[in-house]
Amino acid sequence: MKAVVIIKPGGPEVLQIAERPKPAYGPNEVLVNVAAAGINRPDVFQRKGNYPPPTGAPQDIPGLEIAGKVAEVGADVTRWKTGDKVCALVMGGGYAEYCNVPEGQCLPVPDNLSMAEAASLPETFFTVWSNVFDRGNLKLGESLLVHGGSSGIGVTAIQMARALGNPVYVTAGSDEKCRFCEELGARKAINYNNEDFKIAIARLTNNKGVDVILDMIGGNYTPGNIQSLANEGRLVMINAMKGKDVQVDLSAVMRKRLIITGSMLRSRDIAFKSAIAQNLEKNIWPFLLSGKIKTVIHSVFPAGEAAKAHQLMESSEHMGKIVLVF
Ligand SMILES: NC(=O)c1ccc[n+]([C@@H]2O[C@H](COP(=O)([O-])OP(=O)(O)OC[C@H]3O[C@@H](n4cnc5c(N)ncnc54)[C@H](OP(=O)(O)O)[C@@H]3O)[C@@H](O)[C@H]2O)c1
Repeated sequence: MKAVVIIKPGGPEVLQIAERPKPAYGPNEVLVNVAAAGINRPDVFQRKGNYPPPTGAPQDIPGLEIAGKVAEVGADVTRWKTGDKVCALVMGGGYAEYCNVPEGQCLPVPDNLSMAEAASLPETFFTVWSNVFDRGNLKLGESLLVHGGSSGIGVTAIQMARALGNPVYVTAGSDEKCRFCEELGARKAINYNNEDFKIAIARLTNNKGVDVILDMIGGNYTPGNIQSLANEGRLVMINAMKGKDVQVDLSAVMRKRLIITGSMLRSRDIAFKSAIAQNLEKNIWPFLLSGKIKTVIHSVFPAGEAAKAHQLMESSEHMGKIVLVF
């Protein structure tokens, strides 16, 4: 099969098409003929050599999410059959013509979505569900602040929160990105280049603060996050792009009874990911089918142009998802 491989750690140019054997699959796995693969920021970190794939995942083929048709099924697979259209969260190896996936990590492609659209769903939908609704325990009516509102994660978080009845605030780096986030359903998008988000959040919430913050930035955002949380608030970290060593006012944590938590999805086991898939199918897939939650695709590239796709992601000019098609 053809695959996009990382020939050595480095810039986007190290992504090249190469021949690789079709992956083997286990009794509880399906082999998917990949039509499209979503691109995520962690793929960029992996390409640079800063995010080694877990044991068992393909080491030189990036890609955490796919959509395609089931080509073959393992002996113990019960739900899927050859020809079914699925999208799936994978441990790696998504940028390839074939990818093996545990059956529980597959979801049906909603009838109203193309393969490229379906491939843009799993990584951010699994991550947002797991961190905002499970770990962050965002309850009906509670407010959410998402940093990086126009990121793949951001556009998913905005739409899921809004669909489930939660006011959502975001930060983003330009007025254009802010408008885009508000059109998607953010109650207010704060351009962090024009206004300090902690001052904006205090104003927007009448000094109450927000109930949950989903943060991928870390670094000097952390004191502002602590300040922007309401009593009993939860800060959920999914990355620390501006630095992991931070100062925290522990007296505020105690005074406001805050929870600081975080998680990494990729290394979690199949049972954990399969449970998220079940929750998504029950709670979120109906919103995709009804159109209340939409896919937000910025660009689609042929697999042979994976380097261009990564360049775009690193420019941070995109709003929403970038997808590769085979
Ligand atoms: N823990 C997990 O399980 C998990 C799973 C998936 C993703 N993630 C993390 O979630 C984040 C978003 O992923 P994504 O695929 O949605 O990314 P993405 O679409 O590339 O968006 C990242 C956005 O973050 C903003 N940003 C602010 N400071 C930045 C910095 N120092 N470097 C780069 N971007 C910066 C940029 O928007 P502005 O121009 O508005 O600043 C950029 O568009 C990534 O950090 C990723 O590693 C974590």
